[in-house]
Amino acid sequence: MISALLGQKTSRPPVWFMRQAGRYMADYQKLRKEHSFMELCHEPDLATEITLQPIRSFGMDAAIFFCDILVTAEALGSQVDIIEKRGPVISNPFRLTSDMDRLLSPAEAMGKLDYTSKALKQIREALPEEKALLGFVGAPLTVASYMVEGGSSSTVPTVFKMIAEEPTLFQGLMERLTDLSILYIKSQRESGVDAIQIFESWASLLPLSIYREHVFPHLKRLVEATHHPEKPLILFALAQQPLWDVLGTLPVHALSLGHGLSLTGMRDRFPGKALQGNLDSRYLLCERETLLGAADKILEEMKDQPGYIFNLGHGITPATPEGHIAALVDRVQNLN
Ligand code: CP3
Repeated sequence: MISALLGQKTSRPPVWFMRQAGRYMADYQKLRKEHSFMELCHEPDLATEITLQPIRSFGMDAAIFFCDILVTAEALGSQVDIIEKRGPVISNPFRLTSDMDRLLSPAEAMGKLDYTSKALKQIREALPEEKALLGFVGAPLTVASYMVEGGSSSTVPTVFKMIAEEPTLFQGLMERLTDLSILYIKSQRESGVDAIQIFESWASLLPLSIYREHVFPHLKRLVEATHHPEKPLILFALAQQPLWDVLGTLPVHALSLGHGLSLTGMRDRFPGKALQGNLDSRYLLCERETLLGAADKILEEMKDQPGYIFNLGHGITPATPEGHIAALVDRVQNLN
């Protein structure tokens, strides 16, 4: 996994999936019935168990830390809850200058994230040595969008208004999130993670000109402050080509693409970057042969290409049959 992320040739592509631990797994559902989602994140023994479940069942080449991008928002003072069928809800949204005054400092917020170091150390200890451990953070805009909107929004009207009318307040929030994320990435590395994925899921909800002026400088500072020659950064975004042309200039080792983009096209555009992705998650709801056929097409396209990691374009959806995930892992790991 790490060789591939560093752009080196490997005997086959490594494979892991976003949301590889989660509701499609019966083992996860059992624990979820007894605990709220945030409890699962906060309790290191539970987070450790859930992180390891898909590795035990399917043997992916990497484990991703079971947690959520919104724990940084929570550590700064947002009241975060994940509600069945609705997703994240933040009951005290960030809207006013007085909300800025109430946010904790980055160092104070790190103190609230102690449970993550404890969980990561346990996970690294329990994980077979040949499996990579991936940590992650939400990019400042993606986390800020939940803090400001108070939950998921496909149009982010309140973020848009804040940037237009109170750019200094928005900038203050982005700086605070960036400062905390820099500390959090360093702490995850100290706790044993091999690579970090930055989730900029909602990058394309703002016009590109606004993104470049008000968002990109913060992401750039985050990436430049946490670049590491042996512990790669992966940047995930749901973005079209013009936005990737901006994001691809950042000093990350790997780009994780949503479905629909051409992997070889992106390879031509960014020859120095490892690529990850980008099987359309909707194939997970098709017949097994359809799914494997689509996977084979990608594997053929990226055959002999160094620096390629097999993954989906986005996360595993809850209705996915577990047998489909077993079949996909098997197909990639038995390539010759
Ligand atoms: O990939 C992994 O398995 C690691 C753990 C992880 C989760 N969320 C677990 C989770 C990671 C890396 C995330 C990232 C995340 N969280 C993102 C960025 C990636 C993306 O999907 O674009 C975002 C935007 C969030 C915020 C968030 N958390 C949302 C939108 C939701 C609701 C999702 C839904 O389908 O209902 C969550 C909750 C969440 N995070 C779940 C899981 C397994 C489901 C919680 C449950 O059991 O009810």
